[in-house]
Amino acid sequence: MRRIAIMTAGADAPGMNAAIRSVARRSFELGYDVLMVRDGFEGLVRGDIEIMNKKTVSGILPLGGSIFGCSRVSPEFAVQNLAKIRDVLESNSITTSIIIGDRSAVAVAAVFDANSIPCVVVPNTIDNDIFGTDFSIGFDSAITTISEALDKLHSTASAHHRVMIVEVMGRQSGWLALYGGLAGGADFIAIPEQPVPIETLATHLKQRKEEGKDFSIVVVAEGYPVTIHEPTVAGRPVAGYGLAEALASTTNLSIRVTVLGYLQRGGSPTVFDRLLATRLGLAAVNAVREGKTGILVGEVGQRIAFTDLREATTQPHIIPADIVLQAKTFY
Ligand code: F6P
Repeated sequence: MRRIAIMTAGADAPGMNAAIRSVARRSFELGYDVLMVRDGFEGLVRGDIEIMNKKTVSGILPLGGSIFGCSRVSPEFAVQNLAKIRDVLESNSITTSIIIGDRSAVAVAAVFDANSIPCVVVPNTIDNDIFGTDFSIGFDSAITTISEALDKLHSTASAHHRVMIVEVMGRQSGWLALYGGLAGGADFIAIPEQPVPIETLATHLKQRKEEGKDFSIVVVAEGYPVTIHEPTVAGRPVAGYGLAEALASTTNLSIRVTVLGYLQRGGSPTVFDRLLATRLGLAAVNAVREGKTGILVGEVGQRIAFTDLREATTQPHIIPADIVLQAKTFY
């Protein structure tokens, strides 16, 4: 009898509950027992586990966040707690873990796999920085939030003829900035993959002003390198303010900063993310049924793809050069 444990690990992202629902419903359909693990890997080590039934997942499809709770741990945490993890899995007769999570969850799952603990990863992060899938669950919802925020910021930037610098999430990747900025009509998009001298940005903005554009919206990824100063908030570098300071030191433009922060992680998943979560949840359980573990399930070119966890952990998810080039048409 297969007994599947489901957990949500790393940062939460819209669509996690849709993925939980899909994994659970396919598992029930195949006659598997399904157990929920609270709070990701921390809950697993605590043994915070409970059997699920259809009621557990009733009505959760449109909910943001995770009904199980999340935690972000390092691979070292998993290594240090391997004995405890094995004990909890064995005492609950869990045959396979399905881990719905971000890039940090992929790294921990790779430790599981390297230690013969069967698991399958469903990629779920707003950052879209996971190798092995064109899009991670949560990304579309986050760029929708960014785009809506930029729509709102256009009116105030225009009223005051300002440069509005909008910082978005993404850790070290620029996916959110590029796609969110394009969707929201940004006038410049600063991504860590292609940093530019501050003079380039200043010239671009001054040119806009000379052409009679009385405001500009600049989207900057939180991982963008800003050399002038490294202002921090609660110990985290804030690229938006750093870019503003750098611009203010070379122009007399009126500049304001908006950091979108955790708004990008909130809210109900978009239709795209609900459907992606549903497809990947089904694919994860089907992989288990075929005896395939130690993999990440994704969609590449609209086809389900399995990627070895060792590869998914080491390979970056690069933004295709042609997409970056096309974006340059707009700034
Ligand atoms: O990985 C998702 C993410 O939102 C990143 O974009 C962001 O840098 C990070 O999580 C914030 O982490 P935490 O929720 O631990 O503050």
